[in-house]
Amino acid sequence: MSTAHPSQPLRVGIAGLGRLGARHAQALAYGTRHCTLVAACSPVAAERAYAAEQCGVTKLYEQYEDMLADPEIDAVALVTPTSLHANQTIAALRAGKHVFVEKPLALNVEDCEAVLKVAKEHPKQIAMVGFVRRFDPHYVAAQQSIANGEIGRPFIINSQTCDMNDPDGFFVRFSATSGGIFMDVSIHDVDLARWMLGKPRALRVFASGTTALHPALAEFGDVDNGLSMIEFEGGARAVLYASRTAAHGHETTTEIIGTAGKLQVGLHAARDRIVRSDVQGVRHAVLKDFYERFEAAFQAEIAAFVAACRGEKPLTLELEDALEATRIGLALTQSYRTGQPVELG
Ligand code: NAI
Repeated sequence: MSTAHPSQPLRVGIAGLGRLGARHAQALAYGTRHCTLVAACSPVAAERAYAAEQCGVTKLYEQYEDMLADPEIDAVALVTPTSLHANQTIAALRAGKHVFVEKPLALNVEDCEAVLKVAKEHPKQIAMVGFVRRFDPHYVAAQQSIANGEIGRPFIINSQTCDMNDPDGFFVRFSATSGGIFMDVSIHDVDLARWMLGKPRALRVFASGTTALHPALAEFGDVDNGLSMIEFEGGARAVLYASRTAAHGHETTTEIIGTAGKLQVGLHAARDRIVRSDVQGVRHAVLKDFYERFEAAFQAEIAAFVAACRGEKPLTLELEDALEATRIGLALTQSYRTGQPVELG
């Protein structure tokens, strides 16, 4: 295993420089202490050029395997299509690298289990899945409040992730590798619900969906609006809503109801703390996309990965959580496609 000396920055290589990878590359290159972005890998020449010109990266790879063979890289960040995550994570661990991999870990439970097995064989290496909400200061504060007993026993989670409609239909093409709206979007709310509720096991799920604006998703067995209900052991329930077609902006909102109170996080997609009042009414600006909403959380997530790799601070997010999220996301997808509830037992 190649490990940076504690006084040296962690040397990271990134794979995937698309919609999110380009942002992670900026954070790794310029926004994170004790870390340096030394390499980038993409099959797309323009993305390698972006890494060189915008992030100062000097080692550019077309093939992922070639980047893994570089002994001067301590860790890799995988921001590649979801269908590649499991195999790329396993290969990185076997090459002696720490791994940060975007969510979801894999599109089926067997692939998640294979990653967990290899991670156990490499206990000195960090393997972290990017459930970014775990690093959002507002969700962190909510979770701490619940853990302190401030709302009593939480028993209902009502959570939604809604992206503004993109007429270009990026996510229609994306659906071929993303696993569909439940695996790609609701999985954030699934992990969030388990985190807020103290990681109960899901026993039964039901999902439904409808297509409002993008019928081409049918080719992938996907919809642009998905509804989920999850029954957890111990009686807690989650109701989730995911949308690709919000008219006004990006709106991620969560309500956690407990026996002694409730918490609401992220109401009204408010972009800032300015409320304008004039003859047209009283209003605030809205967030335009997930990155604007979670930029601070993405930065904190990368910082947590680097700190864990350097042995400074252990991670609280475990690979088992990612496996459980995939198990539930898959069951939701199956329920949507069959129209039947799915028992998870
Ligand atoms: P994208 O399609 O924009 O980017 C994928 C990138 O991977 C492209 O740069 C492509 O050239 C590259 N690529 C493809 N095959 C490769 C290979 N074999 N080796 C190296 N690079 C390869 O997709 P996007 O939206 O950036 O998503 C990437 C991942 O990030 C997905 O798993 C997605 O679920 C996750 N994501 C997570 C979000 C979050 O909120 N945590 C938000 C958006 C995406």
